[in-house]
Amino acid sequence: MEQRSEKELGKQLGRGATAKIYEWENNQVLKLFDHEIPTELIEREANKTRLLHTAGINVPAAGNLVEINGCLGLPLEKINGKTMQEHIIQKPWRMFHYWRMLVELQIKLYEIKPIQELPPQRKFIKDTIQNTSKLEPAMKAVLLDSLDKLPDGNSIIHYDFYPSNVLITANGPVIIDWMGAFKGNPLADIARTWVVFSNYLSPDLPVEHVPIARYIRPIHRQTTKLILKHYLKHYFRLRPGGEKEFEAWKPIMAATALNESPRFGVEKVRLKIVQDAFPQVK
Ligand SMILES: Nc1ncnc2c1ncn2[C@@H]1O[C@H](COP(=O)(O)OP(=O)(O)O)[C@@H](O)[C@H]1O
Ligand SMILES: [Mg+2]
Repeated sequence: MEQRSEKELGKQLGRGATAKIYEWENNQVLKLFDHEIPTELIEREANKTRLLHTAGINVPAAGNLVEINGCLGLPLEKINGKTMQEHIIQKPWRMFHYWRMLVELQIKLYEIKPIQELPPQRKFIKDTIQNTSKLEPAMKAVLLDSLDKLPDGNSIIHYDFYPSNVLITANGPVIIDWMGAFKGNPLADIARTWVVFSNYLSPDLPVEHVPIARYIRPIHRQTTKLILKHYLKHYFRLRPGGEKEFEAWKPIMAATALNESPRFGVEKVRLKIVQDAFPQVK
């Protein structure tokens, strides 16, 4: 792998959960992954991004991985625009507008011609639930049994579809951050967005992750509930009929996310989603 110097990094443009983004040569950005992110996952993101780009989907073109001070960097075509999240922060009164737009972008993605080379989502969910230490065997069995009854689906699934992964450009929105892409079931992906956004309901969420003062946290939690409700309502207004199936995906996607983001203190919220669905199981 090509070794490059830290001095070649331009201005830092962004920060995500796994990486920092810098200006880079040839009108690209460099997604410089944090040290602890496994190489295999980074290569997977690079390959998936290339696969989607080659298939003609509107995602940034990806270059070859480089190494800077022991961290891996993925050069990506620079997308000019602010994230949907930045738009919401600047104009919070437009949040419902943006969340409706998010739903519509998700639906558009699910209706593109499927890409067979993407890994199947079911295997990933199954392996993750089987391997977690956060659930008792009885709960795992119930979840896996419920998963068996749900349809595979054959859509492109992003798996991290949130406002921070949508860049809004002069030519329309571009979805970024494709590490989690699979082929699978749209309702599983809708449930994944719902579960992860439920983070903000967590009383354990460290205050530095809540972009408002502590005393208005109750307002923040109520707003999160309203957004979650609005999000689902808009999805089912456009694609009615899957409400029951969505309820079945919810605890499965929460269980699948149990090992993620430990530093955000959201495990309890996710466990509660699982336990609320199966209150009789210990
Ligand atoms: N191709 C790109 N062009 C311009 N900005 C980008 C690009 N990719 C990422 N960014 C910026 O960097 C932030 C983090 O990138 P992202 O790929 O979402 O990282 P993570 O996987 O860590 O969440 C984004 O929210 C966005 O602001
Ligand atoms: Mg991101």
